[in-house]
Amino acid sequence: MQLENTAALVTGGASGLGAATAKALAEGGARVFALDLKEGIDKAPEVPGVTYVPADVTDPEQVGAAVATAAGSGVPLRTVVNCAGIGPSARILGRKGVHDLALYAKVIQINLVGTFNVLALASEAIAATEADENGQRGVIVNTASIAAYDGQVGQAAYASSKGGVVGLTLPAARDLAQYGIRVCTIAPGIVETPMLATVSEEFRASLAEGVPFPRRLARPEEYARLALAIVDHDYLNGETIRMDGALRMAPR
Ligand SMILES: NC(=O)c1ccc[n+]([C@@H]2O[C@H](COP(=O)([O-])OP(=O)(O)OC[C@H]3O[C@@H](n4cnc5c(N)ncnc54)[C@H](O)[C@@H]3O)[C@@H](O)[C@H]2O)c1
Repeated sequence: MQLENTAALVTGGASGLGAATAKALAEGGARVFALDLKEGIDKAPEVPGVTYVPADVTDPEQVGAAVATAAGSGVPLRTVVNCAGIGPSARILGRKGVHDLALYAKVIQINLVGTFNVLALASEAIAATEADENGQRGVIVNTASIAAYDGQVGQAAYASSKGGVVGLTLPAARDLAQYGIRVCTIAPGIVETPMLATVSEEFRASLAEGVPFPRRLARPEEYARLALAIVDHDYLNGETIRMDGALRMAPR
């Protein structure tokens, strides 16, 4: 699918994978709307071709307004990339007691329900556009994690949320096929983003050591390149693609 003269919506677009994807989509010719929390946007740099729209992915009204902004930009909304997410860590039974249920629910709410909320509301706007010459109207790319398959100690909530995103991918592609909308998911390994900012250099190096090849962490631009490849490749649909240098996470 072509990006020129189309609009794209990227959630979590103010940081990390979302920011890299927003920039790459803009460079590819799309008019990009980067959805993020207001506090995220306040810290984000200005990027040519990228307009920030404040919204919480869990809020249907705010997401509806952001989708309307992207869909009303004068060119058809064709691309959605769901990158907004959080990754707190807590054991089911830890030193401080049992896993906080509210924390578990919050991770599911943002990573899974938020992804579904954006996917559903954006698909309505995309379905209302004129199809291209191939009968295609749009592409939605979600972000899971290899934690969906190899969740580590402390990742019960995070891995559950990302497993949900993997499970959502095929039925979403099937539901939206009649509108000419494709749905794929990327499951990244460990990517060098602000989400990793809290870990020490030493721990970062040990993470890189565990990756078979390339023996380093992934770069946000590599995620962006895969997202754009999915948009470009009309026959990719209903699939979750690992981007992890053959990394399989150990229990801890
Ligand atoms: N960095 C990694 O190693 C890695 C690996 C696998 C998967 N992922 C996933 O990739 C996605 C992006 O991660 P990242 O590393 O770029 O993180 P990041 O923290 O740099 O960016 C996430 C962005 O999401 C935004 N966000 C959080 N909650 C939101 C909400 N309720 N509404 C709107 N925006 C919200 C944040 O403000 C932030 O700008 C996440 O879903 C994460 O789980 C990251």
